[in-house]
Amino acid sequence: MRVTVTGAAGQIGYALLFRIASGAMLGADTRVDLRLLELPAAARAAEGIAMELQDCAFPTLGTVDVFDDAVPAFDGAEIALLVGSRPRGPGMERRDLLEANGGIFAPQGRALNAGAAADVRVLVVGNPANTNALIAAAHAPDIPAERFTAMTRLDHNRAVAQLAAHESVPVHQVSGVAIWGNHSATQYPDLTHTRVDGRPLGLDRGWYADEFIPTVAKRGAAIIEARGSSSAASAASAAIDHVRDWVAGTPGGEWTSAALPSDGSYGVPEGVVSSFPVRSVAGEWRIVPGLEIDAFSRERIDASVAELVEERNAVRELGLLG
Ligand code: NAI
Repeated sequence: MRVTVTGAAGQIGYALLFRIASGAMLGADTRVDLRLLELPAAARAAEGIAMELQDCAFPTLGTVDVFDDAVPAFDGAEIALLVGSRPRGPGMERRDLLEANGGIFAPQGRALNAGAAADVRVLVVGNPANTNALIAAAHAPDIPAERFTAMTRLDHNRAVAQLAAHESVPVHQVSGVAIWGNHSATQYPDLTHTRVDGRPLGLDRGWYADEFIPTVAKRGAAIIEARGSSSAASAASAAIDHVRDWVAGTPGGEWTSAALPSDGSYGVPEGVVSSFPVRSVAGEWRIVPGLEIDAFSRERIDASVAELVEERNAVRELGLLG
């Protein structure tokens, strides 16, 4: 399969590429041809990574090519991991951030539209991920919008791990966790449908509201504070999980979380790229239907979705939705 990774020479790229090449994402029987897209200034660094990839002699790795132009980089892509983005600089307003990222994700959407496989799967990791996915999809009218997703799997994995630690159980015993809304501090990690070892969780509401939700939502900042740079290996691992489940299916009828264009489910306006509880069935993400949403959850989902609607309005005003 042809896999294009943008921001290949960045932190996440360095943690991601070797796992893709080793078969962790698409399995031991799938040969992967990697196409690394970088800014011209970082293309040389990407060449160095290509050399290291070659030196691993992974049986699953086919070719590795480096590009500084999106059009050839996405040509024939079956999977596109859009990691490179413009981070928020000092004093940068949200509008400037959205505009700068529009300058990246609009042309990348057009390049995907021009050359990617008709059934390409796109995962946007670069922040603001949900709105970047919306922008890219808007510039790729020939690709169904649902092929554009944004990553909330890291938030999901953080939520599962925090709960497992709190309950003193292994992570595999935790099911039914969901992330709703934006990949931002407003996200809502929902435990109201969660089961532990197959049994409904007796939810400690005080811990849930005062510790669990803020810990998950602010985990990225806590990692930066401790490590001196942002989460990279865990983000790369979540990207692998997202694509693996999308292609191979979520195991055992379980759900996970991913941000996709809303079909209007759960009161999320149609087209907004929001995180939902999802299953992957026959290679397609499907929003888990019919969950009961209590008043506590409703308020938090609505608050995060309101932020996404504001971001959509802002990029629409900037003319970034075409
Ligand atoms: P980084 O700064 O180490 O690397 C980003 C790379 O992207 C750089 O090498 C840069 O040259 C490249 N780049 C920038 N614009 C590009 C373009 N137009 N085309 C191709 N490459 C381009 O950043 P890092 O740590 O790898 O993070 C990447 C992004 O992922 C950031 O936006 C970060 O906020 C986001 N992120 C998202 C997470 C999520 O859960 N959705 C979790 C962690 C990070």
